[in-house]
Amino acid sequence: MEIVNSENLYYPDRKFAEDANVTGYSPEMDYQMFWEKEAGKLHWFKKWNEGRPLSGDAPFFKWFENGKINASFNCIDRHLDGWKRNKAALIFEGEPGDRQVMTYHDLYREVTRFSNVLKKMGIKKGDVVTIYLPMIPEAVIAMLACSRIGAPHSVVFGGFSSNALADRINDSNSKLVVTVDGYWRRGKVIPAKTNVDKAVDSCECVENLLVVKRTGHHIFMEQDRDHWYHELMDWASIGCEPEPMNAEDILFLLYTSGTTGKPKGIVHSTGGYLTGTATTHRNVFDIKDTDVYWCTADIGWITGHSYIVYGPLLNGSTILIYEGSPDYPEKDRFWEIIESYGVTVLYTAPTAIRLFMKWGKEYVEKHDISSLRLLGTVGEPINPDVWRWYHETVGHGRCPIVDTWWQTETGSIMISPLPGVTPTKPGSATIPLPGIIADIVDENGVSVSKGGHGYLVVKNPWPSMLRGIHGDMERYVDVYWSEFDNMYFTGDGAVRDEHGYFWITGRVDDVINIAGHRIGSAEVESAVIGSEMVVEAAAVDISDDIKGQALTIFAVLKESVEASSEVEQILMESVMSDIGKFAKPEKIYFIRDLPKTRSGKIMRRVLRDIAEGREPGDLSTLVDRAAVDELLREQQLVKTAG
Ligand code: WTA
Repeated sequence: MEIVNSENLYYPDRKFAEDANVTGYSPEMDYQMFWEKEAGKLHWFKKWNEGRPLSGDAPFFKWFENGKINASFNCIDRHLDGWKRNKAALIFEGEPGDRQVMTYHDLYREVTRFSNVLKKMGIKKGDVVTIYLPMIPEAVIAMLACSRIGAPHSVVFGGFSSNALADRINDSNSKLVVTVDGYWRRGKVIPAKTNVDKAVDSCECVENLLVVKRTGHHIFMEQDRDHWYHELMDWASIGCEPEPMNAEDILFLLYTSGTTGKPKGIVHSTGGYLTGTATTHRNVFDIKDTDVYWCTADIGWITGHSYIVYGPLLNGSTILIYEGSPDYPEKDRFWEIIESYGVTVLYTAPTAIRLFMKWGKEYVEKHDISSLRLLGTVGEPINPDVWRWYHETVGHGRCPIVDTWWQTETGSIMISPLPGVTPTKPGSATIPLPGIIADIVDENGVSVSKGGHGYLVVKNPWPSMLRGIHGDMERYVDVYWSEFDNMYFTGDGAVRDEHGYFWITGRVDDVINIAGHRIGSAEVESAVIGSEMVVEAAAVDISDDIKGQALTIFAVLKESVEASSEVEQILMESVMSDIGKFAKPEKIYFIRDLPKTRSGKIMRRVLRDIAEGREPGDLSTLVDRAAVDELLREQQLVKTAG
């Protein structure tokens, strides 16, 4: 990793700094007081125990206990009294070019009608609703309608396969799934409903499907089980009392990958989560009433939850959502959208920026994107040269860049520059935000000094932190709170530079981050083993110019199975059908034995070295070298032949 030296600091522009929402750090303020003050900016039906924002026994922390609040009320109703009633809340652009603008009042109408539809479907406070929708306004409406009546939503990313969807529906015990007939991707219809039909075949809990009509192609509708969204909405009345929720009640579940084969249903609270997302959205994106804010993430990931839906709408912002692919019909679609709507804040992922860089700046330069005033990135470390390209080509050298580090589990941004305050360095997320005490520690939990490398931890509880793993509190304690005493373990490694800036180096556990999508190596391995051709497998990440990391699998075949490209294909299919197409492995190597330590741990480092074409380093702890040597010889042959 290239650590940029101090001469390369980028200082905030004076004008930007003068107008910024946050003008400095006030380190003397206690973090609990800080968050209590922030929580006070939301609308509470009943205040929490004032002066005591934090309670509960570690690590089962509670924030704003006894407070009563509703997410959808705060995202919508609060803005209806003044001029924001007629402000654009949501701008939608479909891939075919269709457009829709909804004001806050429109959003109120649609959300309350859909809340009434949910009630008619028998959904009550506490019932989990699965949402499997693409990037269309109904995704936002459905999330807010659930939160209005106190039904936690579980949004499943549209790229997940039917198997992965079924696992998530079953784990959350949803009786209702909200979905779509299909959606547009590169000019073609993606038949989402077919996936759902397959999934619910193995979900006994599901009683009803609500289907949004997007593409209008012919689909199968099962009588009594499947209902058209628009038909029920036509019937539904406008207006629905928001359910006063306890601050600690669950707002949503969101499944994410961990180090075992089973995805974790991360539990988020209501009061604390809303406080965290509203505050960070306002401070990090320096959001103003006049901004047109575009976060390009999918609604199915935490970034979509916190920074498309909750954070921005809590702040009364105008959000933009785009259904399709960035290269359809041409590779300038993003820049065309920015020009067309006057987008001022753009929040995207390094993997997307690397792709734009590869396509070339001529696509960017075709459009007037001078409306942009702030840029953000999230999801993976950004290479300094990619950061500079983003700064120059997209930001014309004048937009601050916020490189935001956070996780599904943290709920909101934890480490990021404050634009207008923090000097930035390309590739570093800089320092923790106000209210967050993050640190880099060695394996004994001792802070590393400047220049040191270690594990990224958080030392204080914060309002938007996860409250647990659905149905598995033991795993919650084990994964996040057992590695170090009284510290939240992130699973990431980091370096502290001479200014105390944080440089995130990536995961130190068995989670793989492909193009910003989190996938557990164990999930991939169990998909391969599930093919019944494989005895044992190891999934590792190797560097990739565009995706950041790509997925490679080493598989030990059963004796009766002969290695061939057909077998490789079958195994790839098996990963895609268990997880989703976005998890397609780059390459599968067949190996006689996996390299292991004496204690039986797979030496992933050795495998990574082989896959990246390096001579594996220290092999002294390896039990049996023969299989590794064999593979190395084959690699050499391939190289020579190539
Ligand atoms: C990685 C996404 C470097 C990190 C919001 C983390 C980052 C994981 C950054 C969480 C960043 C996220 N710089 N790495 N700015 N942001 N990561 O749960 O490894 O999908 O642990 O949440 O992404 O991924 P998740």
